Amino acid sequence: MRTAFEPLVTERLLLRRSVPEDAEAISAYRSDPDVHRYQGWQRTDVESVRAEIEEMARREPGDPGWVQLSVIERATGRLVGDVGLCGVAHEPGVVKVGYTIAPAYQGRGYGTEAMRALVAYAFDVLGAEVVRAYADADNIASHRVAEKVGMRLVERFRAFDDGEEWWGVRYELRRGERRSAT
Ligand SMILES: CC(C)(COP(=O)(O)OP(=O)(O)OC[C@H]1O[C@@H](n2cnc3c(N)ncnc32)[C@H](O)[C@@H]1OP(=O)(O)O)[C@@H](O)C(=O)NCCC(=O)NCCS
Repeated sequence: MRTAFEPLVTERLLLRRSVPEDAEAISAYRSDPDVHRYQGWQRTDVESVRAEIEEMARREPGDPGWVQLSVIERATGRLVGDVGLCGVAHEPGVVKVGYTIAPAYQGRGYGTEAMRALVAYAFDVLGAEVVRAYADADNIASHRVAEKVGMRLVERFRAFDDGEEWWGVRYELRRGERRSAT
């Protein structure tokens, strides 16, 4: 039997499952062109974000399909971003992760701090063998977060979205490659 998700607590942050009441704050930063430039979200309005959160509430972390956690700044209780994890149906042991920090809170190490906790959770609680992140090849901030939590670049690939070409990268960290930081 699965147990309820226990929030992940770091020095400055708390990561808990997103709830419908988070939709407004999440929609606000996702609607910023600087935030969604490299992301695949189709809709960023409050209603769509809320519907997505409600759908994800039916899944457990590690299941195929995304489960999102809201990133809360412990000192203020403010929602400063969100991270997600997603089991891969045809690749048992692989967990994909994603991350977003609201512009007002970027550059403080929050992305890295949240991801360290998420990666540790994926290995230690979910039993993942591989943690994987995809990013746009131009998204340097995202690459840096992946590198800082110990992931390494394993693939550069060309993809098409609505006929438009873009280059992506895949970062991975294998269980056996973990260092003490994660
Ligand atoms: C990627 C993202 C989560 C980073 O969050 P953050 O809290 O600012 O990250 P950190 O403060 O932990 O910084 C991590 C590293 O990225 C670097 N970095 C941050 N923004 C950067 C930028 N715009 N350009 C280059 N490097 C950047 C930081 O300098 C740091 O590296 P360093 O320690 O070597 O200096 C944030 O920029 C974001 O949400 N972007 C929009 C959404 C997105 O693209 N998410 C990733 C999708 S795969």
